[in-house]
Amino acid sequence: MKDILEALEERRAEARLGGGEKRIAAQHAKGKLTARERLDVLLDAGSFEEFDMFVKHRSTDFGMEESRPAGDGVVTGWGTINGRMVYVFSQDFTVFGGSLSETHAQKICKIMDMAMQNGAPVIGLNDSGGARIQEGVASLAGYADVFQKNVLASGVVPQISVIMGPCAGGAVYSPAMTDFIYMVRDSSYMFVTGPDVVKTVTNEVVTAEELGGAGTHTRKSSVADGAFENDVEALIEIRRLFDFLPLNNREKPPVRPFFDDPARVESSLDTLIPDNPNLPYDMKELILKIADEGDFFEVQADYAKNILIGFIRLEGTTVGVVANQPMVLAGCLDIDSSRKAARFVRFCDAFEIPILTLVDVPGFLPGTSQEYGGVIKHGAKLLFAYGEATVPKVTVITRKAYGGAYDVMASKHLRGDFNYAWPTAQIAVMGAKGAVEILYRSELGDPEKIAARTAEYEERFANPFVAAEKGFIDEVIQPHSTRRRVARAFASLRGKKLANPWKKHDNIPL
Ligand code: HXC
Repeated sequence: MKDILEALEERRAEARLGGGEKRIAAQHAKGKLTARERLDVLLDAGSFEEFDMFVKHRSTDFGMEESRPAGDGVVTGWGTINGRMVYVFSQDFTVFGGSLSETHAQKICKIMDMAMQNGAPVIGLNDSGGARIQEGVASLAGYADVFQKNVLASGVVPQISVIMGPCAGGAVYSPAMTDFIYMVRDSSYMFVTGPDVVKTVTNEVVTAEELGGAGTHTRKSSVADGAFENDVEALIEIRRLFDFLPLNNREKPPVRPFFDDPARVESSLDTLIPDNPNLPYDMKELILKIADEGDFFEVQADYAKNILIGFIRLEGTTVGVVANQPMVLAGCLDIDSSRKAARFVRFCDAFEIPILTLVDVPGFLPGTSQEYGGVIKHGAKLLFAYGEATVPKVTVITRKAYGGAYDVMASKHLRGDFNYAWPTAQIAVMGAKGAVEILYRSELGDPEKIAARTAEYEERFANPFVAAEKGFIDEVIQPHSTRRRVARAFASLRGKKLANPWKKHDNIPL
């Protein structure tokens, strides 16, 4: 009996070694943790329960029958993060470069099925050379099986991908279909075709880092939602993100103990808006002053900085924030910011996370590059996303809410539940200068007349009261009381029930 128990431990120890000491040392030399070390950082101590440790590949081509490491290049199972359940897979680069074989894919699919049945998120730690070359089409089929699971799980359980090494070819498409993608700077990259193929086909000379490193994907392509300095930082931040998210689409977001008075008064907000309406201010200051303990988990911080998105807590409960940022492009909506915010609004709505919208928007960005790029369709994404969202929606207009952008930003007309404005709000079709130039074109040669017309327009429209008279703004609030008003609004909406008409699915302008 003792021999059998010892034999099991020996088998386990062998499986835990993956591709062996030498390859583990090589992994460490690159500044990377191994698949198992990563899970140790990600999950609560001692919580990991492994599946399929002894699974081996079945390939016999290219002498593969000689090398059949237990586990086949991916560690799978479940564990907890601050006590809440999560399913995980962690690709082991020391085994055939973490490449995906038929059995490797089956292991991932198994935990995805269990995640959906049991209503818990999936976190994938990706570090893989792509399809296992020796397995050919069996490997491609394995990828497609994972893709299909990603699609079915979308909107059912949150899916998070962390890119911690190479991620090439079709391998990028599984992460691309998950809710969040995070990368590690200087050690991870993602591309459909690598630098060599790019050179052959387009004659462009580009490094892997330039083509698909964290800088590229967080600043240019927006494929990634953020990047971290190293494996440990990335995994600890993923734990932080996880704490904001509900386990599945039938559960409310988690409520954590909070030590910040929901009625906290922030007198400094009374002077946040500059006297000159053309001067910017930092909208992030408002977010931080509204949030419990000033804790804001920003998403896509380096992309389309004219809009801010991310998670805060109010009275311990998760709230998604979308806010125009007047510091960048005067807070205009454009193609990139519309896409960025629309996807976030849809994530929040899919997982019952209430949405706080902070508005200071002079309109959509004009110009040929925007029109040629399809700003009509991309702007419509955000409009559509807000319009279909049934979660509690609280909106605060701090300053400008002009034109179509007023409508888009969770206005009353898109089923905003609470629409507040600060006294500094200006809700109008456009700013005074533009309006006067159109309405009084014949008087443009007379600066005095134009100044009087502008003053008249400002007096009439550059305030929140015209909209408040019509009930489009529920209340004009003091800036210093914003946290209290917003927290009470969300508290009153905890029992909100609103459903859209039955449909197979909608047809959002993609
Ligand atoms: C089998 C692989 C492999 C793969 C790497 N290895 N990629 N084995 N299939 N796809 C093995 C190597 O043979 C090596 O084995 C070990 O992993 C480490 O690889 P190295 O090349 O030594 O490491 P490194 O120098 O760090 O380079 C990593 C790499 C490179 C950039 C990922 O290995 C590489 O370019 N691999 C191929 C990438 C690729 O083209 N994949 C297919 C993409 S197409 P030993 O025994 O020496 O340790 C695709 C289609 C999917 O994925 C389609 C889905 C729809």
